[in-house]
Amino acid sequence: MLVSAKEMIEKAHEGHYAVGAFNINNMEWTKAILMAAEECKSPVMLGVSEGAGKYMCGYKNVVAMVKEMHDFLGITVPVAVHLDHGSFEGAKACIEAGFTSVMFDGSHYDFEENVEKSKEILALAHSKGISVECEVGGIGGTEDGVTSNGELADPEECGKIAALGVDFLAAGIGNIHGKYPADWKGLNFDRLAEIQKSTAGKPLVLHGGSGIPSDQIAKAISLGVSKINVNTELQLVFADATRKYIEAGKDLEGKGYDPRKLLAPGTKAIQEKVVAMMKEFGSAGKAE
Ligand code: 13P
Repeated sequence: MLVSAKEMIEKAHEGHYAVGAFNINNMEWTKAILMAAEECKSPVMLGVSEGAGKYMCGYKNVVAMVKEMHDFLGITVPVAVHLDHGSFEGAKACIEAGFTSVMFDGSHYDFEENVEKSKEILALAHSKGISVECEVGGIGGTEDGVTSNGELADPEECGKIAALGVDFLAAGIGNIHGKYPADWKGLNFDRLAEIQKSTAGKPLVLHGGSGIPSDQIAKAISLGVSKINVNTELQLVFADATRKYIEAGKDLEGKGYDPRKLLAPGTKAIQEKVVAMMKEFGSAGKAE
């Protein structure tokens, strides 16, 4: 059964570890992540961006695929299907489609509008037992080759959004989506500590979880981060393993061009990376 992420994230917060929210793009991604979670007995969140939702032919299709795969593979650990960086309309559509968790990202609106829209999504989602993540302060990233630094969230605004009853809160602390630039300043732990204080101990979410050094991950968890989002790292290991397979000419040997063979090394690489990250985040063994 797919579950809301509320309980797994609260347990992580109390137990000082983090649950990974790994983005899915297709069947191979989903299978690899579910198998990794089962292998190391970890709760897991499957993140779905609006773009990936369209790519997978709609939110209902995503829910149906995850449910069937979950049962077919005999998955026993808690699994949440979560909308990543949802728009107002996207969050409503996912609530209708059977997602068990949604992120409403109103960080680009004026603060008051973010509050009003967050309230509406919270009421709707909570009436159906669906967990909700909201965001304050932008997460940086690379667009058109230019990498912007992550914006630092205002602790006071974080406190106000947290008080609306969000289940977990994404707050910018210098984190960036995609690859970190060589001159990245690192996470801002002073700001993280202030945010944890102003949100009265609400579980916090670290976006941009790919490529952050382990010591910074551990420190972020110790300061209240209970959910870590990972997308880029899985894309990189998949591409790398697939390139090696093709460059070694394996697709030309026998029936190496069969998609089930061609996509196997990349899928295995995703599974191994997710297992390693679940161990690093401390969620491995927590679903036993
Ligand atoms: P990365 O690009 O660092 O993997 O971040 C993913 C993310 O935060 C999705 O919301």
